[in-house]
Amino acid sequence: MATKKQSKAAKKQTKAVAKKQPKAAAKKQTKTAVKKQPKAAAKKQTKTAAKKQPKVVAKKTQVVKKQPKATAKTETSQTFGGQYGYFDDANKEYVLRNPATPIKWCNYVGTLAYGGIVDTTGGTVLCKGDPALNRITKYISQMPCSDFKGSTTYIRIKEKDSIKILSPFVVPTCTMWDKWECRIGLSYTKWVAEGFGLKVTVIVFVPSKSSTLIQDISIENVSRKNMEIDVVPVYEFSHFDALKQLTNADWVPQTMTVEAHKEKSGHVILEQYAFMKKQYAVNYFTASQPADSFDGDRREFLGFNEITGWAAPATLYKGKLSNSTALRGDNIAAQMFKFKLAPKKVGRVATQLGQEKSIEEAMPAIKKYRDLKNVDKAFADLADFWKNYLTALQVKTPDSSFNSMINVHNPRQCHTTKNWSRYLSLYQLGFGSDRGIGYRDSSQDLLGVMSHMPEEARVLAENLLSVQLEGGNAMHQYFPSTMEANEGDSREKEDRPKYYGDDHLWIVLTVASYLKETGNLEFLKKEIPFYNKKKELEAREKGTVLEHLKRSLAFSWNDRGTHGIPHLGFADWNDTVNLPTGAESLFNASLFAKALLEMIDICEAIEDKELAEQYKNWYEEIKAQVNKTAWDGEWYVRWFDEKGEPLGSSKNKYNKIDSLGQSWPVISGIAPAEYAKTALDSVNKLLNTENGIKLSWPGYNGFDPHVGGVSTYPPGAKENGGIFLHANPWVMIAETIIGNGDRAFQYYNQINPAAKNNGKINEFESEPYCYPQNILGSEHKQFGLARNAWLSGTSSWTYQAATQYILGIKATFKGLSVNPCIPKVWKEFSVSRKFRDAVYEISVKNPNGVSKGVKSVTINGQAIEGNVLPILSGKKHIVEVVMG
Ligand code: GLC
Repeated sequence: MATKKQSKAAKKQTKAVAKKQPKAAAKKQTKTAVKKQPKAAAKKQTKTAAKKQPKVVAKKTQVVKKQPKATAKTETSQTFGGQYGYFDDANKEYVLRNPATPIKWCNYVGTLAYGGIVDTTGGTVLCKGDPALNRITKYISQMPCSDFKGSTTYIRIKEKDSIKILSPFVVPTCTMWDKWECRIGLSYTKWVAEGFGLKVTVIVFVPSKSSTLIQDISIENVSRKNMEIDVVPVYEFSHFDALKQLTNADWVPQTMTVEAHKEKSGHVILEQYAFMKKQYAVNYFTASQPADSFDGDRREFLGFNEITGWAAPATLYKGKLSNSTALRGDNIAAQMFKFKLAPKKVGRVATQLGQEKSIEEAMPAIKKYRDLKNVDKAFADLADFWKNYLTALQVKTPDSSFNSMINVHNPRQCHTTKNWSRYLSLYQLGFGSDRGIGYRDSSQDLLGVMSHMPEEARVLAENLLSVQLEGGNAMHQYFPSTMEANEGDSREKEDRPKYYGDDHLWIVLTVASYLKETGNLEFLKKEIPFYNKKKELEAREKGTVLEHLKRSLAFSWNDRGTHGIPHLGFADWNDTVNLPTGAESLFNASLFAKALLEMIDICEAIEDKELAEQYKNWYEEIKAQVNKTAWDGEWYVRWFDEKGEPLGSSKNKYNKIDSLGQSWPVISGIAPAEYAKTALDSVNKLLNTENGIKLSWPGYNGFDPHVGGVSTYPPGAKENGGIFLHANPWVMIAETIIGNGDRAFQYYNQINPAAKNNGKINEFESEPYCYPQNILGSEHKQFGLARNAWLSGTSSWTYQAATQYILGIKATFKGLSVNPCIPKVWKEFSVSRKFRDAVYEISVKNPNGVSKGVKSVTINGQAIEGNVLPILSGKKHIVEVVMG
């Protein structure tokens, strides 16, 4: 985030990794590696290499001769400009037709349990359970898009006197096809490349609950002659400790190993591991078809000591791969599959890149996915998973890009953020101890999937609760494979608090949302340990979920400053404003108030009147303090610094107004009606732009150590006056609360990435099928440029804003509340919503062109009082709502 943050973080990473890798073990590793590299083997390796080299060299002239032919076909002159692709709503895909996207665009496959990122030019980041501690492929995201990035598949076409080397992913041969598309689907990506007499289709996905990445490759001969085609998929491995792979070129390569298992059938399994993992976790690469040849050593595969690179591996210009294994060095897994195809014939091979404890344990999965029928079934099952997931909530409104986002892409992104938190993206690279599963991030992400997968959400909520401290505040992040937690960037400064003032409050909202969605009040009684680094898990203090929530609230209540406002801690939601100890945060006050409201609902549901009463008193006290101390005249201030001076006030030179300072007092109900309207009008006047609402204004113009990280960015970037998208839906929600449906919808449209697909995409640059984290604000010359796609709280909150506040369908303890706040021009809309054991088919009519107000509700033809649909069982219930 901040420069300072970065350099310190770098140091810390090394320390943390060293910490995690017990010193003894680290030493042992080195020793073991040294001891165990049998001399004979080492010699053998050198010999093999020496033996093989001449062969390659011998063919050198040939390669050089042939290469120009292949490169001559390189059509870099293809028009890459214009639109990049389109939404195919029927197939729930975004179809990219141009590989030269302004920046890398990508998709997610699998889950954190096994999966990662697949970019549109075939690069793969893969891990099992933890991107930092169990990485499988090596992807350097800073490399240009045209470079090999962890994986590719080559297609070799052999003709009488020439060889063509292509890739259906375009990269790294950079040869264009006559027709090319990349379909970004729900947890899969599908490429279709046509040209050179072929139609090549590749589908990459991870079957549900499996630990293997499938690459399903089909090649059709669409020419009129017989063709000889070789297909060569390649993956490059990373050391399991992803950061070590980048920082250590001594120990790492000494430990990296590839063995080959040749089966009688001709199938080959390449087994890869870092030496110390041999007995615990091995990666494997195999396929549905016998391999002609293979390589495990990158230098052997690329040939010529790698000088011709990935664009034209020398081995591909000779007959076979080198059948190399590797006792050290850069490990890859490449296999060659041969096809002789008559016209109209299709060849198909499905590869598997998996990880299991041993090859023996992997055999059932290996056998299963060697059968192409099982590959087809796994792909169909994946589609069923998504169908089921998405039917939890489907809408039909007069706005087609709203429908497309709400029915497919936004809930899909919510599923992705639920999985990966902020741990692994092409921006959050998942190295070292910098990130992990973020406490506040995941607590909010869960709000976006609660209507779709409440029980899965509960499991993650339990993990979060288990890294809450006995005192009520929370650790900032944890690592899923070890459940070790840390204090995030607050470790940076000795003299600052080691907690964030908001983390522990979010989980109250999350648990409340789970309880309202499911009615499972028993969950409140579940015992979960509090985090205590110094104690083994079994020795840690335990408390019920209710006790955890009570401690969250008590922490903030007892941690208030001179204005009676909760302290900032190291930072609040805005990570980058790091005021000296003693500062207070008005955002924390509002979040605390909202958490109190949720807790009051919970207390009422469990009929604990006394506790409800206590929290009502706390709420009133906070509300009074905020309105007494923080109203600046036309908006609320956002912080009081350690001296009690306001920040986010008209008195300040920079950061005069902050968006959260206005949206959250409305969301938490602490802003009186007049203040709410005035504050939101100020946001509209001073922070809104055609590309979204800026987080604050004006941006700092130079580093100011008093405020810290925020002033490391130029004005208009990220938290420093940029359009930080996460904060936009909060303004939408606040506008719906005060009944302003037109403005809420205007704000929704401003940041809808799908709406950028036409016309604005070259300014926006980021994927149009998911929300980015930030867009440069109007103080920046590159106003409108988006970055940090996929893993952002924007996804969860925009989904909530759209479904629970604009369409107004919200789970409560008493039933499903219907309270829309829509643009006045909408005459009608409908929502199908699964809730508890039933499906509610809700159609809303708006004959008088209002934004808010429900006049009548009927369920299955029967009128009901009020606007809360009772909890029903049975399948479908027809609900008719008239606004007015
Ligand atoms: C990033 C962080 C998130 C934080 C936000 C604002 O998105 O992941 O935790 O709230 O920045 O600083």
